[in-house]
Amino acid sequence: MGTQEYGFETLAVRAGWWDGDPQTGAVAPPIYLSSNFVFETCDAVNDILTRGPEGAFVYSRGSNPTEVVLEQRLAALEGAEAALAFNTGVSAIIAGVTHLVRSGDHIVAGQTLYAAAQYFFRSILRDRFGVEVTFVDATDPANIAAAIRPTTKVVYVETPANPTIVLTDLAALGRITRDYPGITTIVDNTFASPYLQRPLAYEGIDVVLESATKYLAGHSDVLGGVLAGRRELMDAIRLDTLINLGGPIDAMSAWLVLRGVKTLPARVDRQCAAAQQIAEYLEAHPKVATVYYPGLPSHPQYELARRQMAQPGGMITFDLAGGLAAGKATLDSFRLIRRAVSLGDCDTLAEHPASMTHNDNFVSPADRLASGITDGLVRLSVGLESVDDLLEDLDQALARA
Ligand SMILES: Cc1ncc(COP(=O)(O)O)c(C=O)c1O
Repeated sequence: MGTQEYGFETLAVRAGWWDGDPQTGAVAPPIYLSSNFVFETCDAVNDILTRGPEGAFVYSRGSNPTEVVLEQRLAALEGAEAALAFNTGVSAIIAGVTHLVRSGDHIVAGQTLYAAAQYFFRSILRDRFGVEVTFVDATDPANIAAAIRPTTKVVYVETPANPTIVLTDLAALGRITRDYPGITTIVDNTFASPYLQRPLAYEGIDVVLESATKYLAGHSDVLGGVLAGRRELMDAIRLDTLINLGGPIDAMSAWLVLRGVKTLPARVDRQCAAAQQIAEYLEAHPKVATVYYPGLPSHPQYELARRQMAQPGGMITFDLAGGLAAGKATLDSFRLIRRAVSLGDCDTLAEHPASMTHNDNFVSPADRLASGITDGLVRLSVGLESVDDLLEDLDQALARA
C-alpha cells in the first residue's frame, strides 16, 4: 500500500508490501521459516541485486520476506525512507554505530543511556577499539554542541531516558547537528515509540533506534530492534554490519512484532491515560519524595514534553523517601504489578534498580548515584490492567514501605 495518504493507526495495521495472499486470502503475512532461497538460474542473482530485498531473497541473514514486511511497516511508522529490523535492540545499536565509526573517531553521547549502550561505547569501542567518547548532560543541547570535535562522527541520545525520564530537545539537537554533514545523529526512541514521538521529523536527526522488544511488540514475548532513516544509509548498514556481524530478526520474531505493532496506538493511548492518573496519585502520596513523569507540571521539562511528544508516555519513575528499605518493601509487596526489568508491556512492570539491575554486585553505590539512581528509586512501566486495580496494589504496597 502507498503510505503517504494514511494515518498512523492505519499504517500500524497495514503498511508493508504484504496486502493479503490472492490465492488463499490470508490476511496475516506468512512466517517464512526459510534460511535460504533458490535461484532459477545463475544469472538471477543479478535480479536480486537490482530488485531489492522485497523482490528476491538470498539468505535470511541478509533479509527474509517476513522481515521485509516488518521493515516497511516500521519505516512508514517512523516517517523514514527505510528501516532495518534486528534480533534485539542492542544489535541495532551495535550495527548502526559500528558502521559509522573507525578507531580515532569521536562519539558524543547523552550521559543518561541504556546500560548496554553505555557499556558498548565505554568498555568496547573506547577501551578496546580506540574510539573516543564524551558523555554529556543532553537535557541541555548546548552541552552537545560544546563537545563536538572535528573527529566527531556520531551524536547519540535517548529521549525520554532512564532513570529519571529526562528529555532531550529534539528540535534544538537537530539545529546543532544539521550543520555537520559528517555527523550522524541517532535518537533512541524506545521509551516513546513512534506513536508518541518521531525524531526523524526534525532536520538534523538522521537515524531513529527502537528496542522493538518494548512498546512496538508490547507483549513481553519477543526481542527485536529497529534502525530507521535514509535508504542509502540503511542499505549500507545492511550490507556492512547487519549481514557481516549477524543480528537480523528471524521470521517468527518479525511476525510477532508485526502483530504487536497493529495495536500500538490503542495500547499506548490507554497506557498514557493510566500513567497520568498513577503519576498524580504518587505525587500526592506522603511516602513518595519525587515523581518523574513528563505529564506532571512539576517535571522540569513538562513544556518540552508537550511540544515534542503526542502524549507523555507510560513510564513513571518515583523516589521513595524511605530509601533502599522502602524500595525493596514496596516491590516485594506488589500482588498484581510484576517485578520485572523490561517495559512497554501489557502487564504493569516494576523495577527497583538499587536492589535489582544496579545492585552492589553489578554497580558500585557511587556509580549508581552518579547515574541518577537513588536507593529509593522505583520505575513503573504502566500496562493495560484496570487503573483502579493498579492504584489499589500501589496503595497496599506503599503502606508497607
Ligand atoms: C532505551 C533502551 N534502548 C535499548 C534497549 C535494548 O533493547 P533490547 O533489550 O531489545 O536489546 C533497551 C532495553 O531495555 C532500552 O530500554
